[in-house]
Amino acid sequence: MSLFWSLWITILSLGCWLWILYWLVGTLTYKPHMEEDGTTGHEYDGVREYDRPLPKWWLIVFFGTMAWALLYLVLYPSIVPHAWKGITTVEINGKQEPWTSENELLSDLEKNNKVFISTFNDKILQDPTVTKQLANLEKLQAEQRKNAEPDADLKAQIDQQLVALAPAVQKLSQDPQAVKIGQRLFLQNCALCHGSQARGATGYPNLTDNDWLYGGTPDKILQTIQHGRVGAMASWKSQIGEEGVRAAAEYVLSLSSEHGSKANGELNQTMITQGKAIFDSNCTVCHGKEGKGNSDIGAPNLTDNIWLFGGDRETVRTTIRDGRAGVMPHWDTKLGNERIMLLAGYVYSLGGGQAISEATTPATTPATTK
Ligand code: HEC
Ligand code: HEC
Repeated sequence: MSLFWSLWITILSLGCWLWILYWLVGTLTYKPHMEEDGTTGHEYDGVREYDRPLPKWWLIVFFGTMAWALLYLVLYPSIVPHAWKGITTVEINGKQEPWTSENELLSDLEKNNKVFISTFNDKILQDPTVTKQLANLEKLQAEQRKNAEPDADLKAQIDQQLVALAPAVQKLSQDPQAVKIGQRLFLQNCALCHGSQARGATGYPNLTDNDWLYGGTPDKILQTIQHGRVGAMASWKSQIGEEGVRAAAEYVLSLSSEHGSKANGELNQTMITQGKAIFDSNCTVCHGKEGKGNSDIGAPNLTDNIWLFGGDRETVRTTIRDGRAGVMPHWDTKLGNERIMLLAGYVYSLGGGQAISEATTPATTPATTK
């Protein structure tokens, strides 16, 4: 708060306090002139005024509130708040910090989080080995956060830990209570983009099918949620021209059995042939020779009938012409490892998850429609 507003508030509150005290003391010490009959001589409509002391209980309450106000000024940052922090403190991260509403919130969140984590470890996970792994992961992450630029070595170690956590995620996905908590977390944090049923929307992948951009093994799901993902496909307009865009789109449509959408009708064979040449020299680096995609960079499989952005001719052309850049936010610092485990367990439980043993061949996910 600026000095001006600090002073403004201080002068107003102290001023009011002193003003009230002045009147109270003034009234107590004021001795009016008395008539012989014991009244002040004032009379209103036949009612005569006496001078009686104020009731004791009322005075006590009044002085009590005045003292209470003073105590507050000492306890909390109220007098020149930008300088006087008050003597109340809250505990954050093991340290006593001066009270502010923000610090109080942080302290409460930290306390709730501790309860959450211990409930997670003791009641849900019930596996001391995994608890230790999580503590390890936390340590690596704390170290990583100290680096201005993420350290590649540390990132590899972190990802190794995530792989080690895969069996625990799989176990959580079979525990109804854990799945329920995961679902609640999903509704709070993820449903906005992926939908309350996790079925996705245009540009936001469906998490219930077994078509995965980045792989559907528990560790890949953990990695996606932890670090976030950016699906980057550049615009092709300037490289291959509008004719090239149309030809490439026609070829892409020809790759799937349903040709993108019924509304696309018959495909143009000449364009498909031209498109294949363009595809072979420009697109296979990411989408693979057969167009089956690459889960290392999130390049979608173009041979199935599942479309991230839409399979009608115009949309496929737009994708190729302008490029796409879907962003999945990272959650490592926002949710913490325990919640991410529960979320991964929930996503894995949705039915599209790949078995851990498939981890070695994620690029060749079966292309099935839901
Ligand atoms: C701001 C929107 C947004 C939010 C919020 C969001 N996601 Fe995503 N998520 C995306 C997008 C976009 C992608 C696809 C990225 C791409 O296009 O490459 C994605 C991808 C994913 C994938 C990878 C799917 C695959 O096929 O490999 C998973 C798993 C996932 N999200 C889970 C979650 C979970 C769990 C949460 C909540 C903690 C969440 N997402 C919150 C936008 C979001
Ligand atoms: C650098 C790697 C890369 C190259 C090269 C590339 N793509 Fe992509 N492509 C991607 C990624 C990644 C996505 C997903 C984008 C997202 O999630 O936002 C994508 C998405 C698409 C989609 C959308 C699929 C859907 O399900 O909606 C189509 C169609 C497509 N690419 C066609 C092409 C064609 C045709 C070419 C060549 C002209 C090409 N791509 C070249 C990486 C690439």
